[in-house]
Amino acid sequence: METIVREPAHAPRSATGSTAGLAEPIALADVGELAVPRIPVGIGEVDRVLGGGIVPGSVVLVGGEPGIGKSTLLLQAAASLATGPAESPGGVLYATGEESAAQVALRGSRLGLLGGPAGRSVRVVAESEIGRIAELVRASRPVLVIVDSIQTMTVDELDGPAGSVGQVRESAVRLMELAKGEGIAVVLVGHVTKDGTLAGPKTLEHLVDAVLTLEGERFAALRLLRASKNRFGSTEEVGVFEMGELGLRELDDASRAFLADHPGTASGSIVAPTLEGTRPLLVEVQALVAQSSYGTPRRTANGIDANRLALLIAVLGRRAGIGLSSHDVYASLAGGLSIDEPGLDLAVAIALASALRDREVVAGTVAVGEVGLLGELRSVSGLERRVREAVRLGFGRAIVPAPRRGAPALHVDGAEVMAVATLREALAVALGEVAR
Ligand code: TYD
Ligand code: MG
Repeated sequence: METIVREPAHAPRSATGSTAGLAEPIALADVGELAVPRIPVGIGEVDRVLGGGIVPGSVVLVGGEPGIGKSTLLLQAAASLATGPAESPGGVLYATGEESAAQVALRGSRLGLLGGPAGRSVRVVAESEIGRIAELVRASRPVLVIVDSIQTMTVDELDGPAGSVGQVRESAVRLMELAKGEGIAVVLVGHVTKDGTLAGPKTLEHLVDAVLTLEGERFAALRLLRASKNRFGSTEEVGVFEMGELGLRELDDASRAFLADHPGTASGSIVAPTLEGTRPLLVEVQALVAQSSYGTPRRTANGIDANRLALLIAVLGRRAGIGLSSHDVYASLAGGLSIDEPGLDLAVAIALASALRDREVVAGTVAVGEVGLLGELRSVSGLERRVREAVRLGFGRAIVPAPRRGAPALHVDGAEVMAVATLREALAVALGEVAR
């Protein structure tokens, strides 16, 4: 039989067996030593979300609705980074197509940055042409370039207005090449429309190394920074800030931040110990129900998934005797937070039942657990950590899913842990309808 022998496309090995020029495979166990270098920004909550700092040569997209605080956050990050351990003669370049240099300086002054070292090491340029920004970067070699915003940038050789799909994409591609070519970190600001999509092509998200989003309600002070994509870290961590007179402030006690500050309890309200990444966050779920006046009842969800709300309403009706089919239902999280985790189910269901019966949840109670279609409760990750955090914040009763057969019961010092198997049972305990 004839054998086909192919010539290797690359030069054959030399007599010494050297493989110069070929990528060397590395034992899996040794790869860790090549961990990506990171530059800590110096703002703990930002570094937490980035995974320890910003990676040189990477491109990070920071999205958020107009007015939410993106420019403020990035100017603070620029100042912190430029004056921190990674301080370099090139400083940080802040290129803006949104505002004049004077407007950026005004914000800097409000943030108290102008007098200090950041006043010199953060450089601002009002420029929206990518070629010129690239030239400035190559000449001054900053550690970080901030481009605010990608929707205002254009590439001279391309037709079409700033913000068009072609300009946004080509601008991002060129900034990407610049970042990789020069080993300089680039942060792009991107405006997000009300429905939560980044304006401009979706492909932007595929292009960049990380996508962070700044969330919150514009007229409330709390802000959450999340990663929806991160090539160099986890996408589970969140950063929590408060917008104040001096810009965004890190919260000392973030897990308390989303509890509504009204005294005592009210019907339709209960606190859930949620877990965002490694951080427990206590949130208050609020519900309101009212007899519908028209044919199709309204269901309004704020901060929780609307489909999940619909499902819980159905399960409550079928499995727990809480009929809401002729009621308008409103459910939301206090503080403008959005949370998408199954552990929130039980608290939403209890809030709805509490609202319908107009019965307050027993004071000092938190509830967590996933609700199944049969009205059964399922456990969630990090249960002990969640309950411990609730105890730390003064909650003494925790309604949790019963452990699986054979699994040990949960004990947390300072908490009366009530493990229940079904939604019906959980409602009775939460609303104080059974003695336990
Ligand atoms: P900004 O960073 O300009 O938002 P974005 O770049 O996302 O559009 O911030 C806008 C809001 O933040 C604006 O309404 C003013 C407010 N703000 C403060 O409350 N405190 C501050 O220190 C600063 C600088 C802004
Ligand atoms: Mg801005």
